[in-house]
Amino acid sequence: MKRISKPAIVVNFKAYGEVEKEGAMELARACESVSEETGIAISICPPTVDLSYIARTVSIPVLSQNVDPRAPGSATGWITPSMVKGCGAVGTLINHSEHKVAKNQIGECVELSKGVKLVTIVCADNVQAATQVAEFRPDFVAVEPPELIGGNISVTSANPRIIEETVDAVKGVNGSIAVLCGAGIKTGEDVLKAIELGTSGVLLASGVVKAKDPRVALMDLVKHL
Ligand code: G3P
Repeated sequence: MKRISKPAIVVNFKAYGEVEKEGAMELARACESVSEETGIAISICPPTVDLSYIARTVSIPVLSQNVDPRAPGSATGWITPSMVKGCGAVGTLINHSEHKVAKNQIGECVELSKGVKLVTIVCADNVQAATQVAEFRPDFVAVEPPELIGGNISVTSANPRIIEETVDAVKGVNGSIAVLCGAGIKTGEDVLKAIELGTSGVLLASGVVKAKDPRVALMDLVKHL
């Protein structure tokens, strides 16, 4: 299933040592097998160097961790939305807290991505930023308070208000934009709470990538869906 259906679990592999060498493909396979077994859409964002290989191999949606605001052409070293689409990915993150994009360029990235039919997930640190990026009409806005990223306290318990307020604000801009939340998400209870707070799913990383057994972590994440 290459469509990012909802509720969506999006696993960002980041650049953790665990996903170097064969690690990215092994994790991609674990996500694929849990998705197939449970019927829950698990999408993955592998490191860019592995994007093509993984996107052409697994049956689940694969997204880039970022794209650059560049069209095909003289753009040495940039990652164009067009090449991301061409390598078999279905979407991209934009403006992740660890890979910030200037505000005017977020719109360009969304437009270029839409032009090649890539699904766009634009990240935002807070409600105000989420409201601003919603103006670009991405498919998803993902709210992630930076101070909770990579930690052990889930945004769903540390700051449920930011999630509710983001959902209201984004839907106020455009009701068809889906909202995800992320930061510290680790368990099925966290995912359930995220859904109860009005989101269409979660964006997470360390809870899966750094888990002792990622497959067990993934099964736990989807257990209430
Ligand atoms: O992209 C997901 C991310 O920033 C959240 O990371 O490790 O808190 O799940 P983590």
